[in-house]
Amino acid sequence: QQGIAITGCGSATPKQILSNEDLSQMVDTSDEWIKTRTGISTRHLASLDNSLSQLGAKAASQALSMAGLEASEIDLIVLATSTADDLFGSACQIQSLLGASRAVAFDLTAACSGFVFGLITVAQFIRMGVYRNVLLIGGDILSRWVDWSDRNSCVLFGDGAGAVVCQATESRDGLLGFEMCSDGNYNSFLNLAYQPQSKSLVHEVSIAQGGYEFITMNGREVYRFAVAKVPEVIEKALYRAELGTDDVDWLILHQANQRIMDAVASRLNIPDEKVISNVANYGNTSAASIPLALNEAVRNGKIQPGNIIAISGFGAGLTWGAAIFQW
Ligand code: ACO
Repeated sequence: QQGIAITGCGSATPKQILSNEDLSQMVDTSDEWIKTRTGISTRHLASLDNSLSQLGAKAASQALSMAGLEASEIDLIVLATSTADDLFGSACQIQSLLGASRAVAFDLTAACSGFVFGLITVAQFIRMGVYRNVLLIGGDILSRWVDWSDRNSCVLFGDGAGAVVCQATESRDGLLGFEMCSDGNYNSFLNLAYQPQSKSLVHEVSIAQGGYEFITMNGREVYRFAVAKVPEVIEKALYRAELGTDDVDWLILHQANQRIMDAVASRLNIPDEKVISNVANYGNTSAASIPLALNEAVRNGKIQPGNIIAISGFGAGLTWGAAIFQW
């Protein structure tokens, strides 16, 4: 059986930056409130010139050059996103921008768990021997869907994309263990939902037409869910990998909120020095947040070959999951 190796990573964020000070001029909030409750200082926001496909393609190009692969060598592109440029999906647009003519491309939607679910999904294709060179991109432009007058949610989110190249290897499988969970009973905690706004008649058939509402969130419930479920799912993934928390060199959680990351690390007895965080600079970039943090830590030399990395995503659905891999 073939194993999987992560051989490259990359990321891209829009140029525009919105600070807490800027936000305090838009809604009733302050730098102090945002920093103490979330750890966020700034976030990058897409402008009209930025598309998710472009950000994804930029991150993917970096990952491909680190892996030493040409776009024409990619077999599969998976884009984890909830905010595609096109509701039919944006992975094919990325395929076209990269010139990855041989690749099959599709989107995967699992909100902030998208990158973790995506990594586990692409690993199955590689393990089965179906594909050898796979590009996984996690990207979101949530700023398009944030209610910028709602201080409860608008301070949290930012935009970006991150990518990894996963390749088949005949040596040790780099994906050591994983676990995925969903619970639709709590779907209402976090929504970006379609709402019918009008009814029309097509011949004798009544159809609804509408659009998507802004993000709605029950922050307290999401917080409670994350702090309870994320340590549990990481422990299960570690158990499957036959490892313990002491074996983890780096913990990269979905960058939703510094307080959630601190609470999860403390429940797992993983010291702060092993927790990779860049939420202060980017806010919550949903499916992009883990590969953004991973790419930064690889390029600044924190993550070294052979390191054991635990990643965990959690968010709307509700969905949550963890993967343990060796860099
Ligand atoms: N500035 C100032 N005051 C605020 C702000 C703000 N931006 N937002 C809320 N408040 C007020 C509230 O109105 C409330 O006031 P009240 O007591 O008069 O009603 C007070 O602050 C406290 O509100 P809480 O909701 O209790 O604040 P809490 O400490 O829970 O922090 C937060 C709120 C940061 C949203 C927290 O609940 C959280 O981080 N939740 C998780 C959210 C999250 O990560 N969501 C996304 C994850 S999944 C995904 O990525 C898609």
